[in-house]
Amino acid sequence: MSLRIVILISGGGSNMQAIVRARDAGLPVEIVAVISNRADAPGLGLAAAAGIPVFTVAHTDYTSRADFDAALSAAIDPLRPDLVVLAGFMRVLGADLVGRYGGRMVNIHPSLLPAFPGLHTHARALAAGCKVHGATVHFVTPELDHGPILAQAVVPVRPGDDAETLAARVLKLEHLIYPRAIGWIARGLVKMDGDRVRLSDASLEQWVFE
Ligand code: GAR
Repeated sequence: MSLRIVILISGGGSNMQAIVRARDAGLPVEIVAVISNRADAPGLGLAAAAGIPVFTVAHTDYTSRADFDAALSAAIDPLRPDLVVLAGFMRVLGADLVGRYGGRMVNIHPSLLPAFPGLHTHARALAAGCKVHGATVHFVTPELDHGPILAQAVVPVRPGDDAETLAARVLKLEHLIYPRAIGWIARGLVKMDGDRVRLSDASLEQWVFE
């Protein structure tokens, strides 16, 4: 049995591609569609080339977030996903939409949450003098870039790093931890302990370090 997933993107789609590669290598997921809020997202072409149905729900076509969210769920619902995967999806989703997919929506964020929710995470980590930085896979809750943490990856901040070099090294590890965390969900290994994620096989609870 494979998990039906719908992937939401806004841009390059490298995390989406990492999930496609993992599927091709045996990750038990069926990617039923890739949806973008931007018709010009380069990731859409990559998904189409991989034979995945693609859709655009352009946020610019809607005057309110509620209307955009309604259009988005109207696109997602008929696809009957088990899991909605935000992969570089750069729109804030309202509480109604998030609640609709409660426990069935995951996100990857380029920081070690709860540090640095929001934008410009790499520049902010550098400005704060962080010695380590990284990425987090988490379940989506109405609060932006919060929610139970599934997986994290850590990179050292090196002397001479700028936001671009740091982002590139973090992104490389994102491609490792996102398919891995989706695999845990697909294999039924994820259990909730209050707001904390526990894996039924504790030996899987490893962090990833560059
Ligand atoms: C990734 O670094 C992802 O963590 C980030 O956008 C990039 C998308 O890259 N997401 C966010 O900032 C969401 N708050 P990709 O399109 O190549 O996967």
